[in-house]
Amino acid sequence: MTGTLTITATESTLGAAVTDVDLRALDDDTFGAIRDAWHQHAVLVFPEQHLDDEAHIAFTRRFGALERNVTANNVGDNPETIVLSNVKPDGSVWAPESDHGLFLKGNSYWHTDSSFKRVPSMASILRADRVPSRGGETEYADMRAAWDDLDAATQARIDGKTVVHSYVWSQSQVGGMASLSEEEWNAVPPVEHPVVRTHPETARKALYIGRHASHIKGEEVEESRSLLKSLCEEACRPPRTYKHKWRPGDLVMWDNRCVLHRGHGYPGDQARVMVRTTLAGEEGSEEWNL
Ligand code: OGA
Ligand code: MN
Repeated sequence: MTGTLTITATESTLGAAVTDVDLRALDDDTFGAIRDAWHQHAVLVFPEQHLDDEAHIAFTRRFGALERNVTANNVGDNPETIVLSNVKPDGSVWAPESDHGLFLKGNSYWHTDSSFKRVPSMASILRADRVPSRGGETEYADMRAAWDDLDAATQARIDGKTVVHSYVWSQSQVGGMASLSEEEWNAVPPVEHPVVRTHPETARKALYIGRHASHIKGEEVEESRSLLKSLCEEACRPPRTYKHKWRPGDLVMWDNRCVLHRGHGYPGDQARVMVRTTLAGEEGSEEWNL
């Protein structure tokens, strides 16, 4: 029995809203139904759950181990969460052009979380605590459909290739270098991942690209960089995208193995506070640890 859980797909190739459920009190069958829906839709929206950190972390743990955070500059004191906030301790907001503002700006480019790590993240679960009056949406793009929709020549051109992902590269593009210490930068040297990955649960192939993807290994850097850029531009278009307009208390979970996401702009003088948990990738699986 899965109680009264309701799953409503978006009009995009990814994403569904899950309603008539309380994430604080999930029996195993309902959790199983959510997990299955997540594999199918890749992005699940749980409107107005209003979880606190403890309930957010407990829900996350049902899917697996949480990822270790490498950067200390995400304000907040719980090591199991990342707080994406433009609010200073005194309640005023960081200017968009401040070091912290530039660090946050990185999230406005298409990416998949932690692709700059050797074992990249499986999933992220983000909740909205404070939202601006306009803007600040998070948009998602389906890299399974993006792969399926590529022409055969492009698929053959890239399948089997390895991409170098680098946090130094991606953050330097937005000027967001200043807020990390040398030790933090040293913790994230460039890593390699296949550009096309096969999802271990659904067996669907997906493009694995985004802003941390610097270039294709063994190819001319600038040329392969522009190929990655045009793949990303083409991939992140309707009908493969879904844009979520946040209300306070919303929780959204996405599959970092097959989804890119980006945050949209909002008035620079308004507060936006988002809290994220991050699920670690599967260390044991060869497919995902190249
Ligand atoms: C994230 C992220 C974008 C946003 O939480 O990983 O990229 O809209 N967020 O805050
Ligand atoms: Mn992100």
